[in-house]
Amino acid sequence: MTDLWTVTETAFDPKRQHHKETVFTIGNGYLSTRGAFEEGYPRDRRATFIHGVFDAVPIVVTELANAPDWLPLAVFLDDERFSLDTGVVESFERRLDLRNGVLARTVRWRSPGGRGATLVFERFVSLADEHLAYVRCTVTPDFAGVVEFRAALHGAMDNEGVAHWQRVGQGAHPAPSGPLPIAALHCQTRTSGIGWAGAMHLVAGGGRRLASEWWDADNAPTLTLKMKAVPGKPVGAEKRVAQWTTRDLPEAELVATAVTRVAEAPAWKDAFKANAAAWAIEWARTDVVIEGDDEAQIAMRFNLFQMLIAAPRHDDRVNIGAKTLSGFGYRGHAFWDTEIFMLPLFTYTAPEIARNLLNYRYNNLPAAREKARGNGVEGAQFPWESADTGEEVTPTWVPHFADRNKLVRIWTGDIEIHISADIAYAAHQYWRATGDDAWYIAKGVELILDTAKFWASRAEWNAADERYEYRDVIGPDEYHEHVDNNAYTNRFAQWNLETALETLAWLRARAPERAAQLTVQLDLTADRLAHWRDVIDRMHLHVSETGLIEQFDGYFARQDVDLAALEPRTRSAQEIFGIEGCNETQVLKQPDVLMLQYLLQDHYTEDQIRTNYGYYNPRTDHTYGSSLGPSIQAIVACMMGYPDDAYEHFIRAVRADLRDVRGNAGDGIHGASAAGTWQAVAFGFGGLRITPEGWTVTPRLPKGWTRLAFSFMHRGMPQQVDLRPEGA
Ligand code: BGC
Repeated sequence: MTDLWTVTETAFDPKRQHHKETVFTIGNGYLSTRGAFEEGYPRDRRATFIHGVFDAVPIVVTELANAPDWLPLAVFLDDERFSLDTGVVESFERRLDLRNGVLARTVRWRSPGGRGATLVFERFVSLADEHLAYVRCTVTPDFAGVVEFRAALHGAMDNEGVAHWQRVGQGAHPAPSGPLPIAALHCQTRTSGIGWAGAMHLVAGGGRRLASEWWDADNAPTLTLKMKAVPGKPVGAEKRVAQWTTRDLPEAELVATAVTRVAEAPAWKDAFKANAAAWAIEWARTDVVIEGDDEAQIAMRFNLFQMLIAAPRHDDRVNIGAKTLSGFGYRGHAFWDTEIFMLPLFTYTAPEIARNLLNYRYNNLPAAREKARGNGVEGAQFPWESADTGEEVTPTWVPHFADRNKLVRIWTGDIEIHISADIAYAAHQYWRATGDDAWYIAKGVELILDTAKFWASRAEWNAADERYEYRDVIGPDEYHEHVDNNAYTNRFAQWNLETALETLAWLRARAPERAAQLTVQLDLTADRLAHWRDVIDRMHLHVSETGLIEQFDGYFARQDVDLAALEPRTRSAQEIFGIEGCNETQVLKQPDVLMLQYLLQDHYTEDQIRTNYGYYNPRTDHTYGSSLGPSIQAIVACMMGYPDDAYEHFIRAVRADLRDVRGNAGDGIHGASAAGTWQAVAFGFGGLRITPEGWTVTPRLPKGWTRLAFSFMHRGMPQQVDLRPEGA
């Protein structure tokens, strides 16, 4: 029987190395470590990313600094170093246990000199104590001699050539037991000055120890263990690491804390127990059971796992990057991916995580106000890409995808403005789902009011047509730049303003003092509110008799392309037509209008949605356009009663990283797609709807699914949904 909780790989293919490093990422919401090998491999992209540890970098402003490496554990059979690029790999298996986050690898290897052994590597970073990480190796030799383990902490890590760290110090400290000391390393990022300290303990696990040493190697403190190799008898070593940064502690306490903590750290067995117990709690509220479709079941759990390891549980000063903490792509920057795609998963299953993420935006309101001011408008304008400070960090120029020597101007940081409404929407949705009035009064309302202020101020009055407009923007569909009146943007601006007025009325009744205070602070005069109402009433909305919404002014006049005629293909429409060429067509990177209708579904009739689905679905670059689209498309297709379409969109989303559908999974997990799959099952196949009275489901299970079960929180109470196909 297939193990539906495990991602398995049965052969190592160096060509897939970077993709598999992403797939086999482990993490605990504090840090993530890519699935590079303990002993290393040529051209690996080994990386650990710690939430919030950003450092400056030319052109792209700032990036998550690849942290000092806690993982290295080299093995020698006599004096031959184990590595998959030498000798003979007789068998290979790697397994990620999604239940508890343990990554295990079993390799049967024969060295160039003919020594054979079975090596088992296992690792996890504890969900129970986010500062602790474990790796152990068990070697069963078929020769007599010596097996040596060398464990190190490596300070000289870089981001694909960009060095972010300098060493502050290193040394040995007394260990509670055993012949080896505890080794520590202390580093600091070069520009942002964030301190990091790691301490490690190496313990023999079975077999006879022949020797052990501490090497004060430059920027790579190392502990070694030599064990007697007896054919057929396993010998092992367990490496325990504790790490802290100055985001958690004052610099002066870093090393001592890491050393003490690792000295006291439980051995693998107990640490694993605590970790597994923490995971069991997470899965009890997050798991989605799919019966009748093993691939979908494993992939679904894999996607949820990826979100759970990226979710900050104890920190509300960080966001989840578009590529989570699993790769160098987008440099750790966060986008609207968080609010529209990831937050619903947390809002409905782990509201305290959603609250942390929303607090991140709240905490960054000063930077958003600054951005608005810089653009000559009022209120809060959130950055398109956001990192540690909440300032705009979208690179202005990036290398062209076809010719790395050419630069392309990136406009999203200037004019992809819908994100401010997306954040307001997420805050409102969190409040509606949780009933967390205290948070809403303290923080949520301010997010909604100040973004509304931005929208009213940014709206332009078109006197000729007597309407408010947003000119020169980019909507979610980024194949079209510099457009006027993107339907998603305009309608969401209107929604933001409407919701702000409702919210203010609610606040005046519910918490008059806070309302009075915000009225003064945000200058919510009667004139201003009257202007908001005017903008709402006279917003340009692209209404038509047929219900078909034009994505932006003049979209219908652009060239219509038969996407089906381009098949089979392995490139995006933008690569085929070029950036400007694609702009002139109707091809979509992601379907703006359908996203709008999904998010504001109470405001559209089924017929209106059907009309737009019929028009925009065939014009969307599903496989090679944005990875964000498919999970939402799946929901809209479910709502329209197109189960086969829905499944096709869903499977595209749920497989995206496991099968590397877009060929760029090596850069990291597509976080929005991963989290979006939860929305696809809950709101699409489950048909979950939250109503003022409670909630309802309308099961629309894909063919072959015999059961779909999931949990969610409704106003603080856990709810279970367990669905079978109609008639079953
Ligand atoms: C998408 C955006 C998304 C970003 C980060 C882009 O390719 O078009 O919608 O926010 O990637 O995932």
